[in-house]
Amino acid sequence: MTDFIQMIKNHRSIRNYTDEQVKEKDLQAIIESAIHAPSSINGQQWSLLVVKDQVKKEQLAQLCGGQPWIAKAPVFMIFLMDYYKIAKKMEEYGYPFEHSTSIESIMVGSVDVGIAFSNAMNAAESLGYGIVPIGGVRNEPNEIIALLELPKYVYPVLGMCIGVEEGKQEVKPRLPYEAMVSVDVYNQNSDLYVKAYDETIKEYMSKRTNGKNQRSWSEAVASVYKAVSSTKVRDSLKEQGFTNEK
Ligand SMILES: Cc1cc2nc3c(=O)[nH]c(=O)nc-3n(C[C@H](O)[C@H](O)[C@H](O)COP(=O)(O)O)c2cc1C
Repeated sequence: MTDFIQMIKNHRSIRNYTDEQVKEKDLQAIIESAIHAPSSINGQQWSLLVVKDQVKKEQLAQLCGGQPWIAKAPVFMIFLMDYYKIAKKMEEYGYPFEHSTSIESIMVGSVDVGIAFSNAMNAAESLGYGIVPIGGVRNEPNEIIALLELPKYVYPVLGMCIGVEEGKQEVKPRLPYEAMVSVDVYNQNSDLYVKAYDETIKEYMSKRTNGKNQRSWSEAVASVYKAVSSTKVRDSLKEQGFTNEK
């Protein structure tokens, strides 16, 4: 196994940071790694907003559902689905921006964000930093859009806190290989593996929380998915120009 694969398998979401800053040259290398990500039709339908202002970070920590690590992290970046640049050119060319009426536009932009995010995460971790993804940027999208002055065709998809880890978080186990991989046809018989994983996560979380969290994986995930978590996403996407009609 290469050191790089070993590093990927050692990923942990880090929410506790020392006071150490992220070096400017490291941040630049992390961002450049994201910029080099592949993107659909090379459209690069994403961009980054680096939040440097401490007051803004504190506001964002609240708007993301009360996540204090956003304010504490020396760097907080927001990965945006971003069609701003191409929409401007299309207007100049006199083309209608039909793509933005489709749900596919949201998938394309979100996938691009995910790949760029992953590049940045791997780069940050390779430089010794810890990161945590922040989907909470979609909790109050209207307020975040206003706070960051995001124009039409730009939408906050995922945040990333970067800092130097305080303490030593253990790696969170994943579903077994057999539950994640099908060959030739989809494997619908993953129940036994899910059952085993439920026990693994119960043990892991119990140890990590000194017995406070005893829930299995499926209980924890189901308790989230029994409701709609981000109720403001659909309308705010529409307001940003993603009409989701086609
Ligand atoms: C798209 C996405 C959104 C996430 N949003 C949050 C978030 O808002 N706050 C948070 O503390 N962790 C968030 N996480 C981190 C997950 O909880 C974490 O990745 C998962 O529990 C697995 O743990 P690990 O990353 O330590 O392996 C998010 C992760 C992803 C991939």
